[in-house]
Amino acid sequence: MRALFFCLTLIVAGLAAPPAAAQKVELSVDASKAGAKIDRQIFGQFAEHLGKGVYEGIWVGPDSPIPNTRGIRNDVVAALRAIKVPNVRWPGGCFADEYHWRKGVGPLRPETLNPNWGGVIEPNTFGTHEFMDFIDQVGAEAFLSVNVGSGTPQEAAEWLEYLTTAQPTALQKERVANGHPAPYKIAYLGIGNESWDCGGNMTPDYYVSQLKIYSRFVRNFNPAQQEKEKMLRIAVGPGGGEPRFTEWTEAVMKAYQSRQWSWDMEGLSLHNYTVVNWEKKHASVGFGEAEYAQILKKTLEMEGLVSKHSAIMDKYDPQKRVALVVDEWGAWYAPLPGSNPGFLYQQNSLRDAVLAALNLNIFARHAERVRMANIAQMVNVLQAMILTDKEKMLLTPTYHVFKMYVPFQDATFVPVTFNAGTYTHGDITLPRVDAVAAKGTDGRLWLTLTNVDPNRPAEVEVRLAGVTATSAAGETLTAPKVDSVNTFEAPQTVTPKPVSAKVQGGKLTLRLEPKSVTVISVGR
Ligand code: AHR
Repeated sequence: MRALFFCLTLIVAGLAAPPAAAQKVELSVDASKAGAKIDRQIFGQFAEHLGKGVYEGIWVGPDSPIPNTRGIRNDVVAALRAIKVPNVRWPGGCFADEYHWRKGVGPLRPETLNPNWGGVIEPNTFGTHEFMDFIDQVGAEAFLSVNVGSGTPQEAAEWLEYLTTAQPTALQKERVANGHPAPYKIAYLGIGNESWDCGGNMTPDYYVSQLKIYSRFVRNFNPAQQEKEKMLRIAVGPGGGEPRFTEWTEAVMKAYQSRQWSWDMEGLSLHNYTVVNWEKKHASVGFGEAEYAQILKKTLEMEGLVSKHSAIMDKYDPQKRVALVVDEWGAWYAPLPGSNPGFLYQQNSLRDAVLAALNLNIFARHAERVRMANIAQMVNVLQAMILTDKEKMLLTPTYHVFKMYVPFQDATFVPVTFNAGTYTHGDITLPRVDAVAAKGTDGRLWLTLTNVDPNRPAEVEVRLAGVTATSAAGETLTAPKVDSVNTFEAPQTVTPKPVSAKVQGGKLTLRLEPKSVTVISVGR
């Protein structure tokens, strides 16, 4: 019986698809041809008061048995430091347009409600000082989203005065009494969130008039931010490619072009989630190649959206003074069974790693205009970097991509030409290989290469000019299946492995595993 089983196994193995032949892809990189700076701010994060994103994910309180510094999880901070998070957008999202900052400062923290996200109690124990402490521990900059929906310009103006003034005003004294004598640095100010939807269902014209008021009165008084490092104001921008969003971008950018001395803006936001069907969202676990191909096809729509809204911005701002800030992006799947649907808790698979790389590559190729982005969201919500379960923490495949991409922070884009080839599944055909090259701040040439094809490896041959190299080394991220995930029981299933390649006669040859993301640097 055992022998028969053994024979059958061999027969079945023999009938299985033969190992797929590697496909050849030729690329050319000339390191002497420099493009725009890939702003490190495109690797920004988003932390909303939503589900376990802030409470449990970041904040456990000073009395928690989970190791913490002033209530903030040490494990999460250490992991975020390692990916050099440049900025964190907070407190929302839809939450921001119902947030009243006074409830989150001082000794009395009233319990309020979070109607957007599960209707749960918001304890307000994580407020302004806790957020500023958190980003300080991480080494990131503050991106505050102020309440334009249910708040007032006065409330927002007072928040900024509270945070930033060095003068002994009543608000400054309150800040000092609450433990922070020095003015805080606020690098970015988001003026509203999705004001065309959860942020108040405003018309473009109504929003533009709000934008002018908030831009004028919500001032940053930090003496160190008056000449240099000025706070950048980010206006609400489009949420997709529909005509109403074309109209929105047109209205805001037209107003910008004819602005008077009394108001200004430095960024326009763009929100775009990877969702195929909002009513019946894809699962984040237990899917196959069909769902893998569908999601990746959908995510590549980011290219068209960025191009479309950049073109409108070019009409009104040809000098590209206003940045396109993709401050909400990522995959939005069905909540994991058993979780509170309002908490947007999903798993994160190898598919998400590939998706993240494709989007970061799009931002890098548009580096002149896209100078900031924030993946949604940082911990325990949507396409997270980190998942936690009480004292346990795991790093997701998306986290690993962000870590592998650290050398691209503030690197100089280098054009790379290649024939991507195609990957087809059913009626979906996608470019098979994607690549971006950049000169890092370390002076090295860096390449990121993604093989979208889950079945065939790719044999890449990179013709290098403008750089003397004999070898290349880096890391590659792949896993047994498109839906492989890291779990608390098996947290290393999707984790990067070292990879190296030879360079001979100015040619670098490297094999890309199926469904993989590889980052290498070229050197001697
Ligand atoms: O990230 C979740 C939600 O998605 C945000 O609160 C909102 O801005 C967007 O619709």
